[in-house]
Amino acid sequence: MYLAKISVINFKNYVQADLELSPKINCFVGDNGVGKTNLLDAIHYLALCKSNLNPVDTQNIRYDSEFSVIQGIFQRKGKEETIYCSIRRNKKKQFKRNKKDYKRLAEHIGFIPVVMISPFDYALIQGGSEERRKFINSAIGQYDRIYLENVISYNRVLSQRNKLLKEGDGNDQKMKDVMEALDHQLIQYGVPVFESRKEFVGKLNPVFQRFYQHVSGKRENVTLEYASHLLENNFKEVLLSSRKKDLILQYTTTGIHKDEMTMQLEGHSLKKVGSQGQQKTYLTALKLAEFEFMQDIMQLPPLLLLDDIFDKFDAFRVKQIISLVAENNFGQIFITDTSESRMTEILKELPVEQRVFQITNDGINLKNSK
Ligand SMILES: Nc1ncnc2c1ncn2[C@@H]1O[C@H](COP(=O)(O)OP(=O)(O)O)[C@@H](O)[C@H]1O
Ligand SMILES: [Mg+2]
Repeated sequence: MYLAKISVINFKNYVQADLELSPKINCFVGDNGVGKTNLLDAIHYLALCKSNLNPVDTQNIRYDSEFSVIQGIFQRKGKEETIYCSIRRNKKKQFKRNKKDYKRLAEHIGFIPVVMISPFDYALIQGGSEERRKFINSAIGQYDRIYLENVISYNRVLSQRNKLLKEGDGNDQKMKDVMEALDHQLIQYGVPVFESRKEFVGKLNPVFQRFYQHVSGKRENVTLEYASHLLENNFKEVLLSSRKKDLILQYTTTGIHKDEMTMQLEGHSLKKVGSQGQQKTYLTALKLAEFEFMQDIMQLPPLLLLDDIFDKFDAFRVKQIISLVAENNFGQIFITDTSESRMTEILKELPVEQRVFQITNDGINLKNSK
């Protein structure tokens, strides 16, 4: 699968842009702020119906314009697929495949699988556990629709339960009955989510290890583990044994909403001891593992978006990553970099189809194509 053409109108800094792309490697080079990341974001929109950066759609419309359009023509399983997205101020976002409106955006998720590696991923290490759950949710959500529905239902029941804990009287029999019913629903939605997450992280780990060791040159020991209250006991027991505490603290203290993904380097927290380069290596290996996992399940290579990938890496790690993604089992790749000479130097050695687009404030130029 690959994106053959993309056109944008009034999207972020672009008035209009049309690009014909290589089915393998595409590079966007140019100075800071010219719109390299914005192009990757347009591709992200076509795949996941939203920006990777700004969740408020209308803020992605070019300043002072009324609407934005992003259109992509894909080759997918031997068929041409036109994906169209338009954002208007004060109107619902419109999404079409081959001119036919999607009733729900969720129907499109997973049709164009994508993995993006971005400088903003540091939040995955630096941020709270919700960042890690968001990563897991969005990865699984691309290939399993029911999973996301379960997460949404779980969160709905969870907030009802928290409301009850805040407002109810713990000794009242009626409250106990309602609590019983809510617990039952939490279990119903939470257990399948737990099972999916456990399977996902379990399968991701060995692939992650392989990529990490490849990129780092086997210099470091890292671990990736799923942590959940449900690993220790079944959910019913977990909820029962924490009920007293929940009543005192007035919120639900245990469950899959507290799940974690622990990341360690040499037995210590990666967040605390990892250098920027090591953290970036970790994130890159994690995302490449996600890529391989999704490719296996969907039988389709996701688009790989590598934003500022060379920042903070030494020359050895850059070489290792590029040699990896140039292999045949990766599909179409988009890379951004500020240095055109560095990019062409690296690409020179790769025997695959490639295009380099130079972006300036005056527009986009195809620099070379091979
Ligand atoms: N809604 C918008 N309308 C117009 N310009 C925008 C909008 N959103 C972001 N920009 C501009 O996009 C530029 C950043 O583009 P970006 O793709 O992040 O640059 P880079 O090439 O460094 O990756 C900034 O100059 C910013 O002002
Ligand atoms: Mg950028």
